[in-house]
Amino acid sequence: MQNIALSTYIQVAMMTSPKRLRKAVFPVGGLGTRFLPATKSLPKEMLPVASKPLIQYAFEEAVAAGIEEFIFITGRNKNAISNHFDHSYELQNVLTEKEKADELFITRGWLPDAGHIAFVRQQEPLGLGHAVWCARNFIGEEPFAVLLADEMMLVKGGFLKQMAENYHQHGGNHIAVADVAREHTSRYGIIDPETDDGGLIKIRGMVEKPKPENAPSTLSITGRYILQPEIFSYLEQGKRGSGNEIQLTDAMAQMLGSSPFYGVRCNGRRFDCGSQLGFLEANIAYALEQESMREQVREMLKKYSEY
Ligand code: UTP
Repeated sequence: MQNIALSTYIQVAMMTSPKRLRKAVFPVGGLGTRFLPATKSLPKEMLPVASKPLIQYAFEEAVAAGIEEFIFITGRNKNAISNHFDHSYELQNVLTEKEKADELFITRGWLPDAGHIAFVRQQEPLGLGHAVWCARNFIGEEPFAVLLADEMMLVKGGFLKQMAENYHQHGGNHIAVADVAREHTSRYGIIDPETDDGGLIKIRGMVEKPKPENAPSTLSITGRYILQPEIFSYLEQGKRGSGNEIQLTDAMAQMLGSSPFYGVRCNGRRFDCGSQLGFLEANIAYALEQESMREQVREMLKKYSEY
């Protein structure tokens, strides 16, 4: 009798609790025009902060959040990314011969097991919404995370992990948000909060790149999302928005009426590494975090502050 009660309880719990988050999409198909000429042949996501490429930080953040399947949306000139997630036998053999265990670990120790990673070609960079839509057959009917590697989050334990915990508690869709100066709203997707008591924000609207006078708030959508698969039916329509691109924000705004959206404030430091200044700041901040470099970097900063 007790067993029947328990199995009924499990069945009800399974019907009501959100599906587990297991998959993540990494859109890396953009052209990175703000970093030309470096990005003519080098993917923006391979730019390093200290010695690690941006894409590896995002990947490790996803692993920390419990993600098991990794889907990269790539384009032409992005082969360096797939090579980075593969073995490098010549290098590994040399490191093994020379007994360089630490170097060997940072070369291959973090690679996912075979079969957990997929690369999908976007073919044409038609916008972030289009890039996410390209992942539809690999996502199926599950919730999924989206991580933009050029938005770097320095948050203890990883920001996506915090978002995933909120998601598993509340279900629905979750978007990372951060405060920006009002004069900069036209650079970002901006949310219209319904409630904002310092915790989880209930979202009632969002708009891509509004002029400061039209912006419903100064909370910008940043590069982490947890979305329900229904988003694909909105992206499917292929509507062009700001910049004549298929915008993820527009599809999310359409979906708002039928599925709840929550904003999660980033409580750590975040760097827009898609811009040259943000990238520079990330490198400085990261170097200052490292005890081995901190003093020298401080000295360096003092020296250049006199310019
Ligand atoms: P961005 O607009 O920041 O990247 O897109 P971009 O277009 O590469 O850069 P700029 O503005 O020309 O310098 C945010 C993320 O979405 C991906 C980008 O790779 C980046 O990680 N993206 C963008 C795609 O995967 N496909 C696209 O068609 C557009």
